[in-house]
Amino acid sequence: MTSLRTVLLSSALFGLGATAMLAPPAAGQDVAFGKSVWLTGANCADCHGWMGDGVQEDPRAPRGANLRETNLTAEQLSEVILCGRPGTEMPAFDARAYTDARCYGMTRAQLGGQAPPIAQTPLTKRHADGLALFILQELKARGAPSFQNCTELLGATADKCATLRR
Ligand code: HEC
Repeated sequence: MTSLRTVLLSSALFGLGATAMLAPPAAGQDVAFGKSVWLTGANCADCHGWMGDGVQEDPRAPRGANLRETNLTAEQLSEVILCGRPGTEMPAFDARAYTDARCYGMTRAQLGGQAPPIAQTPLTKRHADGLALFILQELKARGAPSFQNCTELLGATADKCATLRR
């Protein structure tokens, strides 16, 4: 015999499942996607370092900004990733940046020599939005790089993290 409690419980569970299926992707999924792009989908670490603190991994690369201290909003971060920053070595990851007015309303011709380089690995807006959330939640919100934050990002055995161990 089905008790009232079982009926209520199963409908509660069913309700949960249905909500989970219909809801748009939670921010957590976007952060995880952004993290995967950071780790494998782009070369951000060459200039910003794996920990995003602006200490570049490639000594020949320009020193990137410390993303742990950024004051930009998610929207602004995404824009800088897609459009780069004119007059600096921060590349544009949108392959079509400056071919039309999509970036800061400017074309390459209007920017003259100030147009930033176009990155070799193109990223979409979805990539850039994921990276922006990852930067805010996994880098900026965590403050200066710690051993724990490093192993969460790069794995417990990463050589890079050994230097942060207390
Ligand atoms: C070739 C080196 C290089 C690469 C590769 C690079 N950056 Fe940068 N990035 C820079 C430099 C240099 C700056 C600082 C520009 C300035 O002086 O304002 C910067 C600035 C930024 C900023 C602005 C931060 C702020 O608070 O103003 C963001 C966001 C950023 N980079 C994200 C990324 C991400 C994400 C990637 C990978 C998809 C990436 N960068 C790849 C060099 C690089």
